[in-house]
Amino acid sequence: MIAEKETVLVTGGVGYIGSHTTVALQEAGYRVLILDNLCNSDVAVLKAIAKITGEEPCFIEGDIRDRGLLDKIFSNYRIKAVMHFAGLKAVGESAEQPLAYYDNNVNGSLQLLQAMQEADVRTIVFSSSATVYGDPQSLPLTENHPRSATNPYGNTKLMVEEILENLYASEAGWRVALLRYFNPIGAHRSGQIGEAPQGTPNNLLPYVAQVATGRRAQVQVFGADYDTPDGTGVRDYIHVLDLAQGHVAALAYCKQSDGELLTVNLGTGKGYSVLEIIAAFEQASGKHIPYQVVARRPGDIAECWADTEQAYRLLGWRASRTLPEMCEDAWRWEQNRSGQASGG
Ligand code: NAD
Ligand code: WQD
Repeated sequence: MIAEKETVLVTGGVGYIGSHTTVALQEAGYRVLILDNLCNSDVAVLKAIAKITGEEPCFIEGDIRDRGLLDKIFSNYRIKAVMHFAGLKAVGESAEQPLAYYDNNVNGSLQLLQAMQEADVRTIVFSSSATVYGDPQSLPLTENHPRSATNPYGNTKLMVEEILENLYASEAGWRVALLRYFNPIGAHRSGQIGEAPQGTPNNLLPYVAQVATGRRAQVQVFGADYDTPDGTGVRDYIHVLDLAQGHVAALAYCKQSDGELLTVNLGTGKGYSVLEIIAAFEQASGKHIPYQVVARRPGDIAECWADTEQAYRLLGWRASRTLPEMCEDAWRWEQNRSGQASGG
């Protein structure tokens, strides 16, 4: 007899990290059901996933704030666990539209958790962020570093972490993973899926990639007067597929636990500066990438990178892909997508 595949509900599974995690989940033997309202993604991603794995994930177009829809989903499918990616993520926009961010990210998570509680589905893996560490007091960042938020987006992540901690403490049976991502970049090796920001990219890597294709003239380097080796900001960039595999490891950990609150960093433990990223992308693409140093971006920190020991100790997981691989994969994807003239 063939064992039935377990179904994982992936909210926001059409998006950048959710789509790569869907691939990793399918490859690990799970059936994936995606709930996404497509506010920041393109449904064509589903066919691209099928090209990689041979299996198109089940898809429901809808909003995590739609409690009626959530109840139907939980009663119609035998869902074992939820991976919760759905949310808005632009830091600048969150300062302009805080209510939209609290509604989507906090209220949306509450609706989801209430529906899970009602349906007795008590395993959740949540997309948190290194932004919950605020301005680092010490490096590398360990999971017990004090939390703070410097913008509404970061505050939504901090609030949902606290809600999940309270829920876990209130009732037996919850298995909760808070995964704090550092800076995910790169794309699937196939070039079928990757990051497709709408309009002008907020993040460094997609911006650099668009300069390499000639779509944008030059990179603006936000400050070269930080107290870092070359004066530009330093971050812990992690390949999105390593991140995706970290989710599969976290889910396996939750499944074998009797009830656990897992809080782990997903990073590489190594920091690269903006100028090092530009140089690595030049190398990967063979293109000259012009840049200009401009003023610091308000709210930016000088540097941050993860302590990765807890993730390794608890999950047996470590990131393995190098910066050149991250840039090569991002470049393959960027060329494919600019060739197809798709994405925003
Ligand atoms: P993304 O925008 O590519 O994906 C998010 C997906 O959620 C999109 O497909 C969007 O359509 C969907 N969505 C948003 N609101 C929804 C709602 N109310 N109902 C249903 N679907 C909804 O973003 P991403 O980079 O893949 O990020 C995924 C998660 O990881 C987010 O929660 C984000 O805050 C978190 N995160 C991202 C980063 C990063 O640098 N990309 C870093 C740390 C944490
Ligand atoms: C990286 C470095 C910039 C763009 C943000 C969010 C964080 C998380 C990940 C979700 C910094 C510099 C950038 C550019 C530049 N998201 N830069 N020119 O700021 O580390 O993190 O995304 O949780 O919450 O804040 O990432 O890619 O925007 O910036 O010089 O055009 O590149 O100053 O040093 P960041 P980023």
